[in-house]
Amino acid sequence: MKELAFIENMLNDLAPFVRDQYANRQHVDVSRKTSPTDLVTAVDIEVQRRTMERLDAAFPGDALMAEELNMTDPPADLNARCWVMDPIDGTGNFVRGLFPMFGISLAFVQGGKVLAGAVSLPVLDLLFVAEKGGGAFRNGARMKVSDIDAVEAARIEIEFSSRALRERTICAVRPLFLNTGNLRAHGSAVAGLCSVANGDMEAYVHAALSPWDYAAGILIIEEAGGVVTRWDGGPIRLFDGKTTLLASNKALHARFLASLTNS
Ligand code: IPD
Ligand code: CA
Ligand code: CA
Repeated sequence: MKELAFIENMLNDLAPFVRDQYANRQHVDVSRKTSPTDLVTAVDIEVQRRTMERLDAAFPGDALMAEELNMTDPPADLNARCWVMDPIDGTGNFVRGLFPMFGISLAFVQGGKVLAGAVSLPVLDLLFVAEKGGGAFRNGARMKVSDIDAVEAARIEIEFSSRALRERTICAVRPLFLNTGNLRAHGSAVAGLCSVANGDMEAYVHAALSPWDYAAGILIIEEAGGVVTRWDGGPIRLFDGKTTLLASNKALHARFLASLTNS
C-alpha cells in the first residue's frame, strides 16, 4: 500500500533528525501551551512541518489532523482521506531527558477507519508498523500481544496526565490499580500502546486521549491481536474528540473492562 510506504519512509527520515535534536536538547526552544506540563518544542513543529510538506507533494488534497500548528480539527468530510499525526508524543520526556520514551506517530485514515499507521521511537531505534489486515511489525518482526490471562500476573500502564482528570481516573481505575500484578506510567501514549502490541504489557489505560495519540497505536494493537475500546466498552471513534481508552491483550480485555465499568 503506497500510504504505508509513505509513512515508513517519512518516519525513517525523521528519526535521525529527532535523535540529533534530543542529543542537543538543551538548545531546543520549548514553549508552554495550556499548562506548565503541556509543552511544545521547535522539534515538534519541525517534524510536523516536514511531514506536511511531503504529504502535500505526494498526496495533494488529503486532509491532515495533527497536534500542532492549529490543525486539530477533523476533516470537513469525515469519510475523506485523512492523515493523523502526533509529531512528538511524550514531549515532556523529550524535554527532561526521561527514559527516553517519546515517539513520532503517523496514521492514514479513510472512511473514518485507520488503514495504515506507524510509530517511531527514534532514540530506541524502533519502528512499529501496521496495515489493516496485514499484521503488525516491530523493526520487521511480526508482533503478537501477550497471552497472559491472570490479572495478578498482568503488567499494565495507567496514565494520569492532566490534573483535571486525576479524580475521575483514580476512582475508575481503583480496582485495576489494586489488583493487577504490576503498574507503570511512562508518559508516552504511543510507546505504551506499542508495548501492549509487542506483548511487553497487558494493558494501557487512559482517561482522555486525542486522536493523534492513538490513531496509529490502535491499529498496531489490533493487528497484533489485541483489543481497544472506550471504558464503556464502545468502539473508539477517531473523529469524536478526546476519548477514554482501554487497550489490552485479548485474554484480559473483558475482565479489565468489567473492573473499569463497575467502579
Ligand atoms: C501526551 C502523552 C502522555 C499522555 C497525554 C498526552 P504529548 O502527549 O501521550 O503520555 O498521558 O495525555 O497528551 O503532549 O506528549 O504529545
Ligand atoms: Ca505531541
Ligand atoms: Ca500526544
